[in-house]
Amino acid sequence: MNKIVIASDHGGFELKLKIKEYLLSQNYDVLDLGTDSNKSCDYPYFAKKLCSKILSGEFNKGILICGTGLGMSICANRFKGIRAACVSDTYSAKMSRSHNNSNVLCLGSRVLGAGLACDILDIWLNTSFEANRHQKRLDMIDE
Ligand code: RB5
Repeated sequence: MNKIVIASDHGGFELKLKIKEYLLSQNYDVLDLGTDSNKSCDYPYFAKKLCSKILSGEFNKGILICGTGLGMSICANRFKGIRAACVSDTYSAKMSRSHNNSNVLCLGSRVLGAGLACDILDIWLNTSFEANRHQKRLDMIDE
């Protein structure tokens, strides 16, 4: 079974519930790292928690949700080996996988409706990295 890790702050909490439901309907095994309510909390804490699950090798993909997706992506990209893409359209979802091999998808609950968010997610989950010339560029980022 495919597995995926997910987390949000309070701003992304409601969308996270819908995304989780969608993932379960697609037979994903979902680890939810919180937050667990609409109560105000700090997105850097959840971004770090999720990134450590990817960097440990336990998961190879994760989803972070906040109000805009921006705070989460800024935090996640501080961690070497994390390639977080803040996405709000389907074309970028596809390219963030095929060219950038993104391993974290950041979504904004105040930007996206649940329908578009699920379309973005579906494309992101099902697009492969093209490697070839793109791998060299990703290596340059890590160097
Ligand atoms: C919380 O109000 C909001 O700032 C947060 O969810 C996120 O959008 C930050 O980038």
